[in-house]
Amino acid sequence: KTPKNHILVIFGASGDLTYRKLVPAVYDLYDKNMLPKNFAVLGLGRTELSDNQFRRKMEEGIEKFALNNTGSALKSKIDTFLQKLYYYAFNTKEEQEYAGFKDKLLALDKELGTENNFIFYLATPPSMYTTIPCHLARQGLNNEDEGYSRLVVEKPFGYDLESAQQLNESLFRNFRERQIYRIDHYLGKETVQNLLVTRFSNTIYEPLWNRNYVSRVEITSAESIGVGSRGGYYEGSGALRDMVQNHLLLLASLVAMEPPALIDSNSIRNEIVKVLQSLRTIKEEDVAKQVIRGQYINSTVKGKKVKGYRQEEGVDPESRTETYVAIKFFIDNMRWGGVPFYIRTGKMLPTRVTEVVIHFKPTPHHLFSSHATIAQQQNQLVIRIQPDEGLLLKFGMKVPGAGFNAQNVNMDFHYTDLADVYLPSAYERLLQDCMLGDSTLYSRGDAVEAAWKFVKPIQDAWKNNKDIKVHGYPAGTWGPDVADELIEGSDLTWRYPC
Ligand code: BG6
Repeated sequence: KTPKNHILVIFGASGDLTYRKLVPAVYDLYDKNMLPKNFAVLGLGRTELSDNQFRRKMEEGIEKFALNNTGSALKSKIDTFLQKLYYYAFNTKEEQEYAGFKDKLLALDKELGTENNFIFYLATPPSMYTTIPCHLARQGLNNEDEGYSRLVVEKPFGYDLESAQQLNESLFRNFRERQIYRIDHYLGKETVQNLLVTRFSNTIYEPLWNRNYVSRVEITSAESIGVGSRGGYYEGSGALRDMVQNHLLLLASLVAMEPPALIDSNSIRNEIVKVLQSLRTIKEEDVAKQVIRGQYINSTVKGKKVKGYRQEEGVDPESRTETYVAIKFFIDNMRWGGVPFYIRTGKMLPTRVTEVVIHFKPTPHHLFSSHATIAQQQNQLVIRIQPDEGLLLKFGMKVPGAGFNAQNVNMDFHYTDLADVYLPSAYERLLQDCMLGDSTLYSRGDAVEAAWKFVKPIQDAWKNNKDIKVHGYPAGTWGPDVADELIEGSDLTWRYPC
């Protein structure tokens, strides 16, 4: 399917996101002939740049970050693509400057034949998420009488429940839900979408996917890098806001949701929101027991000295911001009643991996004495979201030879085993969907608020109770040891992928 002719307007076009992710992803779409005939990117920002300067900068971004950036015809292809990029400098805070921007946009629309279809992408600091849509609406750029008007809002969507509600209210004053595309780039990942296919297209999983057969679910998103140059941003965020409220709760929802009636935006998003609304609230007084937070401290990793979080640029030397969180929680519904869910995420852990692990219950009768521990008796399904995308099933098999001894073996599928597999970047997929008017892979307003609602008592407890520890963990380790104590069951721990 090819999208309708349109202009993609990027607010914050001189920033990093545009350079690293957005324009390279648009180029990848172009490279695969997925853009309409009449199309342009109009970059906006305060920095004064000519079209040409903008194009040169984006050329560099494409060369470094586009996925399809190799091949013989490449140079001329990039050059042709760059002709579709334009830039207009103005102060997006100032309402009176929007008339000039509108003139520029409409002139371009007329010249290129993009039929009044506009996507407004807010790649700006979150403080602009209310201002820009409001000014756009004053210019009538929210109306869809002649073409369409879509608004893409980057994360973070709010800072807490209240600010997320306010942001939704403010957007709804001028745009309808169907015009708003809230980004959670995890939904753009091929392997995250594959969770639904794994679950709902296989007879062998779905009948077991419930409290009768699953003993616990574990979701890990580990990063081996620290905050780097993002210390300033991260100080105001921390892992709970940065990763849990959005990406990890979304993954948990896809793992836990009921089959949608149809594969369409509303059906899928209805099921996601039901899971989020069924999350059992963690009472403030239980936060210390169910939530572990940590912060990396300086250490030596693979022979190299690594800074602690408090020594990073832009970070308060006495900061209590968490760079690691692990949470135990429950989903109060018919399918999952009583099954503990565990999520954890952290920076400066030993490796980069995002995975979901379904731990199945042991068989009711324990026949093989060599399978002594509960952990040995459990089947595990490991869904590797990234890197090394794939699926691993651990199951018991007879040790060849005398007697009946069981051992666990792996059945392992890697996406790389598929010939010519091309995994589009999350931004490529999401931008393409927005161009096609499909919001399935974007977060809906009610889902975002439900996720904030779950996170709120944790934020409150951390704010109100200074006795709740921020555990230091040496960079390059799996976070605070106490996180193991979250897992119910005497000989059970997290899975530690290498
Ligand atoms: C972003 C966070 O949303 O997700 C970053 O702000 C984090 O801190 C990133 O590094 C992780 O994304 P991915 O796709 O690398 O898992």
